[in-house]
Amino acid sequence: MSWVIEETGFDRENVELNGNKFLQGNGYMGYRGTLEEFSREQLAACILGGIYDKVGDAWREPISAPNGLFTRLTCDGEPLSVLSGDVEEHTQSLDIRSAIHRRRTVFDAPSGNSVLVQAERFVALDDVHLLALKYSFRPSKDCRIVIETGIDGDVWDLNGPHLENLEAEPEGDLITLNATTHELGLVVSVAEALDKDFGAAQEIVATSKSIIRKITVEARANVEYTLHKYVSIFSGADAVPDPSASTIASAAAAAAHGFDGLLVEHRALWDARWQVSDVQVRGDEEAQLALRYSIYHLLIIAPTHSDKVSIPARGLSAQAYKGAIFWDTEIFMLPFFLYTNPSIARNLIRYRINTLDGARRKAAEYGFRGAYYAWESQETGDDACTHFAFNDVFTGRPMRTYFRDKQVHISADVVYALWQYYRQTGDESVLVDGGAEVILECARFFFSYSYFKKEKNRYEILDVTGPDEYHERINNNIYTSMMVRNTLEIALETVDLLEAKYPDAYADLISRLSYDDDLKNIREMNELLYVPAPDPATRVIEQFDRYHTLEDPTVEELKTRIIDPNEYLGGGNGIASNTKIIKQADTVLMLNLFRDRYSPEVKKANWDYYEPRTDHGSSLSACVYALVACDMGDPEWGYKFFLKTATIDLTGEAKQTVGGIYIGGTHPAANGGAWMVAVLGFGGAYYDGEAIAIRPQLPASWEGLAFTVTVEGQVFKVSMDRATVSVHASEANTQGYVFKIASFTGECKPGQDVVAAYA
Ligand code: IFM
Repeated sequence: MSWVIEETGFDRENVELNGNKFLQGNGYMGYRGTLEEFSREQLAACILGGIYDKVGDAWREPISAPNGLFTRLTCDGEPLSVLSGDVEEHTQSLDIRSAIHRRRTVFDAPSGNSVLVQAERFVALDDVHLLALKYSFRPSKDCRIVIETGIDGDVWDLNGPHLENLEAEPEGDLITLNATTHELGLVVSVAEALDKDFGAAQEIVATSKSIIRKITVEARANVEYTLHKYVSIFSGADAVPDPSASTIASAAAAAAHGFDGLLVEHRALWDARWQVSDVQVRGDEEAQLALRYSIYHLLIIAPTHSDKVSIPARGLSAQAYKGAIFWDTEIFMLPFFLYTNPSIARNLIRYRINTLDGARRKAAEYGFRGAYYAWESQETGDDACTHFAFNDVFTGRPMRTYFRDKQVHISADVVYALWQYYRQTGDESVLVDGGAEVILECARFFFSYSYFKKEKNRYEILDVTGPDEYHERINNNIYTSMMVRNTLEIALETVDLLEAKYPDAYADLISRLSYDDDLKNIREMNELLYVPAPDPATRVIEQFDRYHTLEDPTVEELKTRIIDPNEYLGGGNGIASNTKIIKQADTVLMLNLFRDRYSPEVKKANWDYYEPRTDHGSSLSACVYALVACDMGDPEWGYKFFLKTATIDLTGEAKQTVGGIYIGGTHPAANGGAWMVAVLGFGGAYYDGEAIAIRPQLPASWEGLAFTVTVEGQVFKVSMDRATVSVHASEANTQGYVFKIASFTGECKPGQDVVAAYA
């Protein structure tokens, strides 16, 4: 079974797409899948997580570090680049098993010379500051090769340049480039060490933006010449006293260790990651590769090194969406980490605890109490989202959008995720150490935001935007109201838990937050909150008040009204706003998150009603329909949505621009969605707080499926064919766990196997 994504031949049109498709990373940085000779014009970038900058009036966005892997050749004075078209053969590939990028190019050089260039690189998983490159060339004729290799500070930015005061200097055998960010003056340091297996003259050329070694070799026909580069990056956002000294020490240590040694360690860690993360599909190679590719993308952006950063909506592939963290992380990505690598899930949760003050500031900004999390969150938790997120493509004017101020569900999404984490890991420390405070502050925000309708004796959640962003400022949105109810319930449970088990922490929290009255309010609101119910006749839940009064065209009919392919369909003048066409799963997402509370008939009625009315204008949508299809017992319906989700970053068939704004890059929420559909949908894994249920719903083309489930630190390997489920409990487990598989309910003790028929 292949683990390799490969593209043969060079197509200039694919440069941007391939930058995403062949992305590498380690949660600290994302290195775009560009070729070694590429620069800013080809969107070469090394995006750093958690360090942001603002230039002028433009949006704040993450910064791209100077490119320490930059390398290009000239042969007898002629530059060798795929861009010049003199290419006989070219292959670019990504081995997702070990996260290694390779290229092999035969250049058509002057005088009938063929120069073979091969390169292999990785972004180290164990030492997150490190990149390493092995670069070799072999001419077919004697020639003079000049290698230009070094640190290129001329990097791709959307709203930059972010780096100033660039200082390029040799440092012994190393070269370094130090700069500071524009807004906060944070240091960004890159150092490069190099070794080579040949002697050659070298000069170092420093410009205002780069520092490049010029290495001249009188190369012999059919002799291979190899160099290795070790690049280290630190910034002022890292907990080190002197980023520049750290880069120098780290690049030098890496060079001393050598490329092969580093690679062995990198591979070993990737092996360990795949041990728990892999999902094996039997009988469907396309699905297998796409699923592994999705998992690869989640792993390369997972912050293992810090709980001060989380995963942006476009991962570490680009500065689109301001490198900000959306609800995508909590609702679409977290489950993968919870089931496979809870320590990463903990970092993601702690990021929200660490940014609570930003959420408090946002609530206060809009006149509310408690915590209103940022729709687009950066390092402080303050909201990077503007009130004018898109432009009207017809007038060019900024368009008022209600993402920032009305998608209040974000605070409920954070609480939902926090509780999922607590329930599945049993880690109460996260509640005591800040999590409970987040929950209570979010509940308080919702009380503050709600309206009490005296004549109906109920609380309502009015004037919101739900996940379906085409319909803004609506009342009683089912997703939002149900999530608010869930927040209130969790707040009350949290209070009970703390009071019973951690009385001191409880007393301290309630007094520190002056929460006594809020507690009374939240109890009352929980009793009296209005949440729309299914219509008794049709079982359909109206997505929001008056939704049923809107025009009801088909998606195809609506699309005939599009004038400009980049126009935004929602907002004040959007063609979908006055119709029943929704952007993404909303009611159906709610049914997925609260699957225990609704009957199969209600799920089916709403799936049938809303799916044909969904434009799937967001990459977050398709996986939700797939999940609910599986829950309804219709995996075939889910399969096409699964494939759409799992292949999104392979095909590149996603919108690049909306309302004049670039939104390109990778789609980690969809990557997480693909994992969820495979394991929770087709595999039917479901942790209900007490037991792990496995209710397989394999699509017709799948002969078998295997994956890992981690609950309360206990690790289980689950595999299934079309008739039987087998569970193996890791020998390292410390306790047994109850599994429910069809009519079987029984404990799987450490090191034991359970086998049960389900078909
Ligand atoms: O969070 C999503 C939102 O639901 C739809 N627009 C894009 C955002 C980032 O992925």
